[in-house]
Amino acid sequence: MAYENIRLEQEGAIATLFVDRPKALNALNTKTLQELESALKSLPADVRVLILTGGGEKAFVAGADIAEMAALTDAQAQEFGALGHRVMASLEALPIPTIAAVNGFALGGGSELALACDFIYASEKAKLGLPEVGLGVIPGFGGTQRLTRLVGRARAKELIFTGERIDAAKAKEYGIVLEVLPADGLLAHCRAVAEKMLKNSPLAISKAKQVIEAGADQDLRKANEIERQAFGDLFGSADQREGMKAFLEKRPATFTGK
Ligand code: CAA
Repeated sequence: MAYENIRLEQEGAIATLFVDRPKALNALNTKTLQELESALKSLPADVRVLILTGGGEKAFVAGADIAEMAALTDAQAQEFGALGHRVMASLEALPIPTIAAVNGFALGGGSELALACDFIYASEKAKLGLPEVGLGVIPGFGGTQRLTRLVGRARAKELIFTGERIDAAKAKEYGIVLEVLPADGLLAHCRAVAEKMLKNSPLAISKAKQVIEAGADQDLRKANEIERQAFGDLFGSADQREGMKAFLEKRPATFTGK
């Protein structure tokens, strides 16, 4: 399918999805969100790691599209918010690792998009923030919840109430960003991390992701029960047999994801 505002590039098992509307700093209007939703639903089956980044030089995503939002009625805003939430939820539910490569402004819905990925690497040029209260609204694509779960209530409230824009180093200090890279090395770093993952069992990675997500909202006892069950389930899989056999035969494993 041909997209106007996003672009999917695939190299082997690694796909890079660009939000690519640089004239509006990749702002998320309805069309862009719909394209993202469609692309996430129809990723080629051989993609094993997804990197999400922004097209152009300046932005990852500068937020939801303010020009479009300014004219929304409250009913339309409910729909727009629901679409944004669906995109974030589809991203989070992908059975493969997702890495946000934040290459510039990640504001409002842009930060929220990055937060819906498994983790974030940022370029030295990145600026993150949730400035929505300055527009008379609140983060509407999951930011109040995902940021809070990541950094705790006090820091999330500080960032959301002030709407302050923070640089990549500060975002790393707060635990939002895992690493800060020179701008021209950001995607290469993401790909190198993805390559490490490709050596491991896709089935086990997918299960680990599922268990981490499912356990996050549970108390420790229930969360550990989810892990116990999933650990047992993997035994008997081709990947478990191959992984352990390869270790014992002192050779690299060849995983099939089955
Ligand atoms: N929506 C629509 N258009 C946007 C946009 C956005 N979020 N962000 C930038 N643009 C547009 C600008 O209007 C401008 O368009 P024109 O050339 O047609 O005037 C173009 O992108 C370039 O932007 P600037 O000229 O403003 O570039 P700059 O370098 O001076 O500033 C910036 C960059 C600081 C990111 C500034 O553009 C900005 O503050 N953008 C808005 C950021 C923001 O408030 N995001 C939150 C949106 S609300 C939200 O996301 C709600 C939610 O949670 C779902």
